[in-house]
Amino acid sequence: MVEDVLIDTDIGDDIDDAFALAFALHSPEVNVKAITTVFGNVDVRTRLALKLLKVFGREDIPVATGVGKPFFERTYRRDRYLGDEVPRQAVVLVEDESLPKPYPKHAVDLIISTVMDSRKEVTIIPVGALTNIATCIIKEPKLVEKTKLVIMGGAVSNWFRPSLSRAEHNIRCDPEAARIVFESGIPITMVGLDVTMKCVLSEEQVDRIREGGLATTTLLSHMTEAWGGGRLTLHDPLAVAVSFDPTLTKTQPRLVNVVTTGKARGFTLAVEDDTPNAQVCIEVDSDRFISLFMKRILKNPN
Ligand code: RIB
Ligand code: CA
Repeated sequence: MVEDVLIDTDIGDDIDDAFALAFALHSPEVNVKAITTVFGNVDVRTRLALKLLKVFGREDIPVATGVGKPFFERTYRRDRYLGDEVPRQAVVLVEDESLPKPYPKHAVDLIISTVMDSRKEVTIIPVGALTNIATCIIKEPKLVEKTKLVIMGGAVSNWFRPSLSRAEHNIRCDPEAARIVFESGIPITMVGLDVTMKCVLSEEQVDRIREGGLATTTLLSHMTEAWGGGRLTLHDPLAVAVSFDPTLTKTQPRLVNVVTTGKARGFTLAVEDDTPNAQVCIEVDSDRFISLFMKRILKNPN
């Protein structure tokens, strides 16, 4: 069965968001109903998503701009708010290039209407800060009964090291929002660093994408060059994959608490409990996932 999905993304900083969108668009198991942007310079993120859809020939998919600022403007890295910077990948946006228009309403309204007006369940895949999703839950509490989330965010094992300031990025960008989402009762699969850090492309695989010879792989390679970040870890694409093939990971039910104060702000503490709020991915078949990912990105049927 084809799954209806909505992807909520902070495309533009790390490169894996662009690859997550590309992977979803090339995966027949999912039907991307909408894309929404979150955190920081959301207007640029929206234009990046629109550009990607244009190159992928999917201008029919609506892209809506979401909330740019976290619930509280305290953030990590010595409380400096990082979000206003122009994402590096914006270099692929050519001035005066004609792009489809963003959806005329706010991302929060697009998420709510996409989920609430659909007869079929729409899975939301948040791969950035959880600000839009928390806002949706506050605005339309019935959302929690109509959808499920496959979240790229957090970490459970061996990552609780506040002295190293290693809270996972998406959660630490807006811990209050994350807390609202995890405590809302919405069904959650958490795809955290425990599994995503095991899904890294080799240099040879990155080269194969660069030499892919398609308009899509050319765009992705330009974005990768602009990002310039080193090891290409497939955090967000793994969340997309898990949305349609949960057998790629092994999960455990856990009660995930998001810490919002002190040095551990942004960390996720996942404990065994009689009242779990998430299925937490603890193991991944990374070889099978990466091989599927490469085939889809290269549009290779074999
Ligand atoms: O920690 C990984 C997450 O942070 C991913 O969503 C990646 O895109 C970055 O933003
Ligand atoms: Ca992301």
